Amino acid sequence: MSRARPVIAIDGPAGVGKSTTARVLAQRLDYILVDTGALYRGVALAARDRGISWDDEGATVQLSGELQLRFESEADGTPRLWIDGVDRADEIRTPEISAAASQVSAYPGVRRALLGIQRSLGRDGGVVLEGRDIGTIVFPDAEVKLFLTASAEERARRRAQDLQDRGMTADQDQILAQIRARDKADSTRPIAPLRPAEDAVILDSTSLDLEAVVQHALELVRACN
Ligand code: DC
Repeated sequence: MSRARPVIAIDGPAGVGKSTTARVLAQRLDYILVDTGALYRGVALAARDRGISWDDEGATVQLSGELQLRFESEADGTPRLWIDGVDRADEIRTPEISAAASQVSAYPGVRRALLGIQRSLGRDGGVVLEGRDIGTIVFPDAEVKLFLTASAEERARRRAQDLQDRGMTADQDQILAQIRARDKADSTRPIAPLRPAEDAVILDSTSLDLEAVVQHALELVRACN
């Protein structure tokens, strides 16, 4: 069944600018924004709350099926993750939870548990979903598929700048090492690895600014109407 408004899939590695691109795109189109990485982060955080080791695949998978995960939107459309009725959106953003989210996202049972939530959020279209496997697994029939890339060095530079802009200290070399480790883990896992769908448009944003990337995406949306 065709949708009245498209599903827009934005995939790519850590720090490539998916979140910002997806947020601006959703604002301009007045679409819903779904941050799928937040769900994996939520599982990692909830496991830590309960004293479940991230190495314990069985317990982590069981937990992922029991959690109540939902989003509430901020005024600018940014999704905030609520876990079991509590806003945990800020706590899921630490480097520790980033690494743990990458670890638990490699468990097939966790991916299965989170698939239904992602599909139900996007089913009716008029939605921008950002993640790693939206165009390949979650919505292989998405009307628009954009896969963003940028060099690891440029992604580390952007992330460090972002942290500094928010008044935090940032060690760019350490961020680069974390980005490389996460790239490796996310793209070499056997299930739903990070890779572009065959019909995705691949855009290298290393030397593009945000507006240029958004314009590319808007052109793809116009082309599918
Ligand atoms: O986008 P993010 O950095 O918040 O994602 C955190 C981790 O979750 C990432 O390292 C891999 C995993 N992830 C995934 O496996 N599939 C997705 N669709 C989104 C995120």
